[in-house]
Amino acid sequence: MAELRNALIETMLLDEERFRQRLPDLVETHQLRSVDPYPGDESPADILQNLDALKPSSVTPFERETIAKLARLGTAPLGLTLTGPAYQDNPLRYATQTFREMTGYSLAALRGENLRLLQGPATDSESVATLQEGIDIWEQRTVELWNYREDGTRFRNRVTIVPLTGPDGSITNWLGAQEAIDTPDS
Ligand SMILES: Cc1cc2nc3c(=O)[nH]c(=O)nc-3n(C[C@H](O)[C@H](O)[C@H](O)COP(=O)(O)O)c2cc1C
Repeated sequence: MAELRNALIETMLLDEERFRQRLPDLVETHQLRSVDPYPGDESPADILQNLDALKPSSVTPFERETIAKLARLGTAPLGLTLTGPAYQDNPLRYATQTFREMTGYSLAALRGENLRLLQGPATDSESVATLQEGIDIWEQRTVELWNYREDGTRFRNRVTIVPLTGPDGSITNWLGAQEAIDTPDS
């Protein structure tokens, strides 16, 4: 899965046009048979319209573009998340279908929340500190830690966070890639 993780992150960092060119190759190479460009009734246009209905001013053009890309990777085996603004404690902007299925949370429940909401008593404080450090110095980090679904059950989550540079060259948002790892006691 590490290879897929890197490929998904790399693809997400491409601009819109190169993203579109790269997508078929990504699907082919990693046999992402489940990737549906328009999962369910959630076309990127629908998603953006729903976001607008909630808080029109709160989604930047860069975020809209990123969400449209994320939606097309919505059913990839790894969950993907977008948070921002970075300087406001990284509230969640968007989470893919896979992430929502993995955690049991709806998009409405997650939006505006910092993803520490998944943490609980068994969460590894060292891993949390590693994420915090990455955020402080704008660097990518990968950790494993215990997280909790909405129903209270826990799962081992492998999380990568990646700083995203907006159009003005500053880091405005973070991308998350999350994978539920099989463990004997999860
Ligand atoms: C894009 C992104 C995705 C994240 N995903 C998770 C996650 O899935 N699970 C989790 O426990 N923390 C996740 N975090 C980390 C928390 O949001 C938070 O940064 C971490 O708990 C450290 O900050 P704190 O010490 O203030 O809680 C994510 C952070 C970012 C920026």
